[in-house]
Amino acid sequence: MTDNDTLRERIAGELSAARDRTTYLTTVVDEADLVRQHSPLMSPLVWDLAHVANQEELWLLREVGGLTPIHPEIDPLYDAFEHPRSKRPTLPLLAPGEARGYGHEVRGRVMDLLEKTRFNGTRLTDGGFAFGMIAQHEQQHDETMLATHQLRVGPAVLSAPPPPAPADAVTLPAEVFVPGGPFTMGTSTEPWALDNERPAHVVDVPPFYLDTTPVTNAAYAAFIADGGYDDPRWWTADGWAHRQRAGLEAPLFWRWEGEWVRVSFGVALPIIPNEPVLHVSWYEADAYARWAGRRLPTEAEWEKAARHDPVTGRSQRYPWGDFDPTPEVANLGQRHLRPALAGSYPLGAAPSGARQLIGDVWEWTSSDFLPYPGFTAWPYKEYSEVFFGPEYKVLRGGAFSVSPVACRGTFRNWDYPIRRQIFAGFRTARSASLETA
Ligand SMILES: [Fe+2]
Repeated sequence: MTDNDTLRERIAGELSAARDRTTYLTTVVDEADLVRQHSPLMSPLVWDLAHVANQEELWLLREVGGLTPIHPEIDPLYDAFEHPRSKRPTLPLLAPGEARGYGHEVRGRVMDLLEKTRFNGTRLTDGGFAFGMIAQHEQQHDETMLATHQLRVGPAVLSAPPPPAPADAVTLPAEVFVPGGPFTMGTSTEPWALDNERPAHVVDVPPFYLDTTPVTNAAYAAFIADGGYDDPRWWTADGWAHRQRAGLEAPLFWRWEGEWVRVSFGVALPIIPNEPVLHVSWYEADAYARWAGRRLPTEAEWEKAARHDPVTGRSQRYPWGDFDPTPEVANLGQRHLRPALAGSYPLGAAPSGARQLIGDVWEWTSSDFLPYPGFTAWPYKEYSEVFFGPEYKVLRGGAFSVSPVACRGTFRNWDYPIRRQIFAGFRTARSASLETA
């Protein structure tokens, strides 16, 4: 097999894995559920269904293949920038059967195009970039659709086996030490990395300590029990104002029934103490950290702890090395519908000793979403550039809800600090230099 054949096979595999997940998430509910808006925060599932097909048509059939548009008249309906999620149910959207048919037609033509494409010569086709971008895009919508499922009210329709339990979690130190000094952040070589992950650049990070695992439900419940939600000392001014306005008292989907109960995809069960906390906003994560006498890590600290190997001085692709994620090293890909217990995945540990940096829960960092030095928008400004600024906070590492194709040591996610329906948790850090001060 030539390198082109190998790449073609990988692309076909990623595109079909994404479509399998989309199909599952949109066939476990009935048609009425597909067109209903389960939360003003989310699109109806049927919007996502046709939107992924429309983006695939735009980027692969039209841009790469130079083909004539199939349904140009529907482009504006599925342009995420033209219509906010809350307004999408009022649009004349394709019905579920039409949306599926459109997706099927586009995919058939994409598979023909893939056979003919040579992966060099244009920036869109180099290394299969546009195909990788579309596989990632569909998987990102599969994650969004999973969040819609979590917000949906009604009998449970999703199920999955529990994640593997750790054998040695009780013996882990609470925190790991990351020595100070320069490391390489971002990438210039990862073929399917998006514009905001580029270019690779050197960042000097002072020494710090980082939690070995994400913060657990038990630790977070202690913050609540200690009156953390009622004490403005722990909150930023904006965070406190939001906590008051929104009436926050616990993570989203938690309720008090003599003990804390969490609703997960329609099933209410007592919280699992050693499971990473999920569905907290940046404001809540930040307040918890201050209550604990710590702080959120910066984005550079997170990436250094996850990728830097002090023995070789290199930045690895992932905490465990350079190979793509497997079920043995990380909880990704919606194989399990919850995070694994804190301390799981010893084979996925970073050189720093930190665990579960990739998978399980997205991790809020203290950093605003900003371009790296030398950033150029590619392949369009709306991918990242329009979001840069202090109103968005960076999340790292992916979650159980994220596909391996849309998750790397360099991958950057961003959201508003009030957001809680995303699969986000956090871990905390402290500066090592304070000890000698
Ligand atoms: Fe999209």
